[in-house]
Amino acid sequence: MNSTIKKAVFPVAGLGTRFLPVTKANPKEMLPIVDKPLIQYAVEEAVAAGIQDLVFVTGRGKRAIEDHFDKTYELEVTLEARGRHRMLTSMRGILPEEVSCIYIRQPEPLGLGDAVLRARSIIGNEPFAVILADDLIDAAPGCIAQMIDVHERHGASVLAVESIPPTDTDKYGVIESGDFANGIARIDAIVEKPSPASAPSNLGVVGRYILTPGIFDQLADLGRDDNGEIQLTDGIARLLAHERVLALEFTGQRYDCGDKLGFLKATVEYAIKHPELKDEFLDYLAKWHTRR
Ligand code: UTP
Repeated sequence: MNSTIKKAVFPVAGLGTRFLPVTKANPKEMLPIVDKPLIQYAVEEAVAAGIQDLVFVTGRGKRAIEDHFDKTYELEVTLEARGRHRMLTSMRGILPEEVSCIYIRQPEPLGLGDAVLRARSIIGNEPFAVILADDLIDAAPGCIAQMIDVHERHGASVLAVESIPPTDTDKYGVIESGDFANGIARIDAIVEKPSPASAPSNLGVVGRYILTPGIFDQLADLGRDDNGEIQLTDGIARLLAHERVLALEFTGQRYDCGDKLGFLKATVEYAIKHPELKDEFLDYLAKWHTRR
């Protein structure tokens, strides 16, 4: 796919406190959904949309992500010697040849806005994608490809949004917008984690963004919020004063895998679709259901 967006930022430096203790020594983004880590699903979505440079903003304890996308010589030799050709092909296919990985560090988890700002020198003066791997989105075409299409047609930043339960507004960036036409609306305002009583709508931003480089000046000028963090939402709120920003109600199913229940739902639904597992797993679920 030939895309105008060539670079994607994957902020993976968060602490993952909702998943402790498993995230004490393991990155949240390496949690598996059946047999692939969350970060691999996110990378596959980006690569399928034509993105070639993957910029990971990492922190301490995230080495496993770099290793996952590196060549594992010993493993490949062993699989070859044992004739495990299918597994070998799947291991080698994790990243296509033309794709590059770039790793930069966020020394302290000072928020998503700070993480994105760290990528400024690598992104330069071009629009780019931001993908949060803990939001797993099952969609065809992928969510980021849908957003690139909107960006190419309208030449503006694009945020992926979906209807959220009104009681959950304090977990999301929430938008105020004009009417939607073909799933697209112009954003008038955006607020980080408003209380249900003060939320401007029940449209929450999920972990996919196409941003123009104008966001960097806004983030650089922002101070830290009451939690000591720099919020990407606050940077986008400032960007609105200078540029048009669009919301896209994407088609597809999102799983909030940063949350235990969302992670379990994704695990079950991906297992039901997995060609090697689905029959036995469905059989197991049916038996489990009758035992209850
Ligand atoms: P979350 O809001 O889910 O935070 O970050 P978290 O720290 O990962 O998890 P909890 O809430 O403590 O359980 C959304 C994404 O932004 C990245 C995270 O790695 C995750 O992919 N992030 C967050 C950073 O890279 N840096 C930060 O300072 C904060």
